Amino acid sequence: MTLTLLDSARAEAPAVPLPAADPRAPVPMSLRVNGRDHQLALDIRTSLLDALREHMGLTGTKKGCDHGQCGACTVLVDGKRTLSCLSLAAMAEGRDVTTIEGLSAPGAALHPMQQAFIDHDAFQCGYCTPGQIMSAIACVHEGHAENEAQVREYMSGNLCRCAAYPNIVDAVLDAAPKIKGA
Ligand code: FES
Ligand code: FES
Repeated sequence: MTLTLLDSARAEAPAVPLPAADPRAPVPMSLRVNGRDHQLALDIRTSLLDALREHMGLTGTKKGCDHGQCGACTVLVDGKRTLSCLSLAAMAEGRDVTTIEGLSAPGAALHPMQQAFIDHDAFQCGYCTPGQIMSAIACVHEGHAENEAQVREYMSGNLCRCAAYPNIVDAVLDAAPKIKGA
C-alpha cells in the first residue's frame, strides 16, 4: 500500500484539541419531590441536598457535615432512606423523593412520627430532627423498630449534637405501631 501526500500530511499534522465541554454548563433535569414535578437546569455535579435546598426552596432537609457522617440530610428516595448530600440530583430522576415537607400537608394532621417527636420532646435545637424523622420512618418500614436495641442500632447513622437520644428512641417506639397499622 502506498501513502499519498495527503495521507502523510494527515499523519504528521498535530492533533487539534477538541473544545472542552464546560462541566458547569446546566443540564436539564426533572425531579419529582413530595408528589410534585420540578423542572430544573443544574450543574451535573449538584447534590440532591443542594438541589432541594438551593433550587427548590425545600430547606427542611438540613446540611450538617455534607459528607455522609451525620444523617441530617436524610430523605426518602422511592421509600428508602438516602443521604442526600452523597447523592447526585441526577440520580433521583425518575424516582419519588420525599422530604420532611412532604410528610403532612399544611394544616393537616402531622405524620405519626412527627407527632411522636413532639409528644416525647425528642429534640432540643431541632437541627437533626428532619433527618431523624425521615430515617425513623424508614426504620419502621424496614422492620427495624421492634425494640429499643434495634432502634438504637438502626438509627445510629443519625447523630444528635444535643444528645436527645433517649427521647428519640421513645418517639420511634411509640410511632412504630401507628405507622405499621396505618
Ligand atoms: S449532611 Fe449528609 S450525612 Fe451529614
Ligand atoms: S436536637 Fe440538636 S442536634 Fe439533635
